[in-house]
Amino acid sequence: VKRRTLLTLAALSALGGCTESAPAASFANRLRIPPLAEPRPGRDGAREFDLTLRADGHSAFLPGKTTDTWGVNGAYLGPTIRARRGEHVRVAVTNLLPEASTLHWHGMRLPARMDGGPHQMIEPGATWIPEWTIEQGAMTSWYHPHPHERTALHVYRGVAGLFLIDDPAGPELPSRYGVDDVPLIIQDRTFEGDGQFDTNVLGGTYGLIGDTVLVNGTFDPYLEVGSSLVRFRLLNASNARVYRVGFADGRTFQAVATDSGLLEKPVPVDRVKISPGERCEIVVAFRAGETVIMNSVGEPRQTANDIEEDDFTLLKIVAGPELTRSAAVPATLGGTATTAPPAGSRVRRFTLSGSEINDRDMDMNRIDEVVPAGALEIWEIDNTTFAHNFHIHEVAFRILDVNGAPPPAYQAGPKDTVFLPKHATARLAVRFGRHTDPGWPYMYHCHILRHEDRGMMGQFVIVAPGTSVAPHLSHPG
Ligand code: C2O
Ligand code: CU
Ligand code: CU
Repeated sequence: VKRRTLLTLAALSALGGCTESAPAASFANRLRIPPLAEPRPGRDGAREFDLTLRADGHSAFLPGKTTDTWGVNGAYLGPTIRARRGEHVRVAVTNLLPEASTLHWHGMRLPARMDGGPHQMIEPGATWIPEWTIEQGAMTSWYHPHPHERTALHVYRGVAGLFLIDDPAGPELPSRYGVDDVPLIIQDRTFEGDGQFDTNVLGGTYGLIGDTVLVNGTFDPYLEVGSSLVRFRLLNASNARVYRVGFADGRTFQAVATDSGLLEKPVPVDRVKISPGERCEIVVAFRAGETVIMNSVGEPRQTANDIEEDDFTLLKIVAGPELTRSAAVPATLGGTATTAPPAGSRVRRFTLSGSEINDRDMDMNRIDEVVPAGALEIWEIDNTTFAHNFHIHEVAFRILDVNGAPPPAYQAGPKDTVFLPKHATARLAVRFGRHTDPGWPYMYHCHILRHEDRGMMGQFVIVAPGTSVAPHLSHPG
């Protein structure tokens, strides 16, 4: 296997921190920042966006090579949508791909028919126009396709983007987009000799494990920063890889937000682990004139059944000769601490085996769980095999414990995806929303996209409390 940006810490220090002559990572390309989507004011005051899924991209990732890619409003990835808590948004999603797809709002609390899961297919040439009111506070969510059994391929080819929610009542954090508030969409890819993506996304235990990391669709990137504090919004948009993000010099930084919102207070860390679908917001301090390498350092692989956690350099950050002084990160961020749900809360158990949940493959026509609106439940996820993770649509949850131990403090905020190492059991306190739309299901699934496509997914509906009739699907698969 040829490894392009793979550069171990040892190799890096052997280079004496030199960033010029390392052929594997020369940081030749300015980090791309996904453009902000231009909103249109709708007649009714809604904030309207147009997203067009396209398959005609030609992307220049590697020197001298062109890669055919898919994207949203462009060749690869999509624009960043930004909206405020309380705003009504309406998005016209047009599918110009050669096959049906969907666009799912990962992390968003909204009515199930707006969710963009596998029941909201958009045929080629068609436009789907979901709308909803933003109920959540500040967070980094994202959008990506979710067609039944085709998600891995559509995401891998490049269809994904960020959806940032701003909360005017939130704490003061660096928020100049692309300047001191920088999204980092981390994805691994494998390139063929001619520059095309290897698209064998369903092979192996985990699907495709790429040997090259792209950040915001940039190969071998660098970034210049001009302020003393920079917020990075990390998104693991890879199909399977897990990253442990930190810096080559081991510096401490502050974690400020988890998947779906702010932590109670900043948490000093030197590495944060993110599995596919997870987000983590961090604030990093820089000194004028310094050069810093952001990297991912894997935990040692225990057995052949663990997911690969190779070492990667992710980004060279060059701090300007003079830095604007940023306001300090507030001591409290407004998030709340995790509290255990009341005794007697309903517990649901989910057992993950090879590609099944509770011994069943995903069935578009089966509703697996019926949840009363507004419920607070304990979901216990028992992983009986190799590494998985678990994502639940619509909700925010707290990790109560993994193998009986509370999560690290930087993961103690609101989440929608949790990593499950081999043979781990996680208990989650899950708060469900109040959008009852019983004919339309939400999904829960492993966010390792091969596993999702191979059936490790189930469906739940939210019903008015006390409802006893079994719902039937409005739009069976
Ligand atoms: Cu990020 Cu069901 O998805
Ligand atoms: Cu989701
Ligand atoms: Cu899995």
